[in-house]
Amino acid sequence: MLLLVKPKPGSGASRRQVRKNMPGTFDEDYPPKYESLLTLKDGRQVFLRPIRKTDGNLLIDLFNKMSPQSLYLRFLWRIDALSAEMIHHFTHLNYSSDFALVAVAQEDARDAIIAVGRYFFDSKDGISDLAVAVRDDWQRLGLGKSLLAKTVAIGKEHGFSHFKSMMDIQNKTMRRLLLELGYEVKYSLRSGFYEVDIRV
Ligand SMILES: CC(C)(COP(=O)(O)OP(=O)(O)OC[C@H]1O[C@@H](n2cnc3c(N)ncnc32)[C@H](O)[C@@H]1OP(=O)(O)O)[C@@H](O)C(=O)NCCC(=O)NCCS
Repeated sequence: MLLLVKPKPGSGASRRQVRKNMPGTFDEDYPPKYESLLTLKDGRQVFLRPIRKTDGNLLIDLFNKMSPQSLYLRFLWRIDALSAEMIHHFTHLNYSSDFALVAVAQEDARDAIIAVGRYFFDSKDGISDLAVAVRDDWQRLGLGKSLLAKTVAIGKEHGFSHFKSMMDIQNKTMRRLLLELGYEVKYSLRSGFYEVDIRV
């Protein structure tokens, strides 16, 4: 069973206190209210929190540890590296119309980002883009589903109940996940991909 609980003393809250006192590492707009602990199906706990401006290196590490197949399913092209521009785009958010929630685990006594859920408002069509990716060795533990549900709930809180996503037509995992979350989902074929319309 998956449990969402408040951070224990000594985890999120105290980390925040420490970071607050480190010059250049505290984001003014960072919303700590979206921090929580998540217990996965195998009993391990991960820390969920909004992404920070300083998370670039942890995103690169996540990217380097994901399989080419998972990266392809996330980005829909064969991507070799994250550019500086992409990292900036992924980490510098307004925490309202653009939001990303990351899952953090401790590996070798260090923080590792092992999954990201995000939405990003697209002013071209007025619909938010929704995406999720979980590092391969953390998949099938309920993380993707919880992270997506939490990300969507945060979007809803900010007034977004309509999302879209481009998806590979073979991505049965994501289809099943959206079905299990009970959203109203419509699939249209566009340039060989599914354009997915998601209402929550
Ligand atoms: C899609 C993705 C985020 C799912 O993450 P996850 O943490 O493995 O998903 P969960 O463990 O929460 O699984 C939720 C449900 O999805 C389905 N599912 C997950 N992995 C599956 C698999 N390999 N085969 C079939 N169904 C699968 C199951 O129904 C599962 O529920 P269950 O565990 O009760 O059977 C992950 O596979 C991923 O990062 N894929 C690459 C990137 C991607 O495809 N992103 C989506 C496009 S933006």
